[in-house]
Amino acid sequence: MSELLTLKGTNGVSEIHIESGLLARAASVIGETFSPSRIHIVSDSTVAPLYLEQLEQQFTLPVTHTVIPAGEEHKRLSTVEGIYHDLLANGMTRKDLIIALGGGVGDITGFAAATFLRGVSLCQIPTTLLAQVDSSVGGKTGVDMPEGKNLVGAFYQPRLVLIDPAVLATLPDQTFADGMAEVVKYGYISNREILDMVSAPDYKKNIERIICECVRIKRDVVTIDEHDTGLRMILNFGHTIGHAAEKLGNYVDLTHGQAVAVGMVAAMRLSAMLGNEDLSERLIGILEHIGLPTELKYGREDIYRSLLSDKKKFGATVNFILVREPGRAEITPIGAEKLHEYVLKL
Ligand code: GLY
Repeated sequence: MSELLTLKGTNGVSEIHIESGLLARAASVIGETFSPSRIHIVSDSTVAPLYLEQLEQQFTLPVTHTVIPAGEEHKRLSTVEGIYHDLLANGMTRKDLIIALGGGVGDITGFAAATFLRGVSLCQIPTTLLAQVDSSVGGKTGVDMPEGKNLVGAFYQPRLVLIDPAVLATLPDQTFADGMAEVVKYGYISNREILDMVSAPDYKKNIERIICECVRIKRDVVTIDEHDTGLRMILNFGHTIGHAAEKLGNYVDLTHGQAVAVGMVAAMRLSAMLGNEDLSERLIGILEHIGLPTELKYGREDIYRSLLSDKKKFGATVNFILVREPGRAEITPIGAEKLHEYVLKL
């Protein structure tokens, strides 16, 4: 199957192609959209040995690359500066093209593309499930600061996103499961059919269809609220308590997907405390089936304090994404005092 979705953002239209085997013909798809004089690819030390040569050799025009060390600790401004130096050394102009090849390099490469010469065209080729269903689509770019994750960045839509589900075959099980946490999120916030698909014993066989459904949701949400001032917040289901847990574990004890998984279960329980139907049992079953954790391992006072540091972003309340029924979510602000009471009961 092959799917083409478009997303109209403030810096232009993104074309999102989803098709198994797409990486092997990336240059021809890129050639239909761009006519750059040169291309610069940014990849990391995990993905480059697998796919960089295969991509580079498809082009007849000059192609250069930067390979950055894999890992969140390298998603920082000094790494972006290194990318700028490579772009300058290779004579890249505003008419040229930057490609982000990988799962972890999308945010930082997007930020480099958004800022180099005030904006150079960007193509995302995500190679993890998490990046394919979430971070490569929607134009959030950025880097971490010592004070916190993603604190510096820009909204900058890639002109092209090439999603090849076949590359997921090389992913370690844990990395695949991390992406599935985001898939489950989409099921609960917008399309319950996704939950039925991922509950099947052989759900991985349907991964292309699952990716298409998730990306369609993301596209629709970002089309309405590109700059994350309203509806886009529903994409944070499970992420509020998830971020609090991730921080408490110093970003080492839990992967992002694991944190989102425990965060979704906690959000479901909190939703039940507010009088909604308790949907946590089925959610736990689905997460266990995928191989994701479901229980918060940290003290509830610690979770509360960690949540309050997020609260600074929102003012007097924390915005929780609560699921009323599978496929329907809403943003609910909760005041600090009430939140304390609920979190202690989780
Ligand atoms: N990953 C959430 C968003 O793109 O808004």
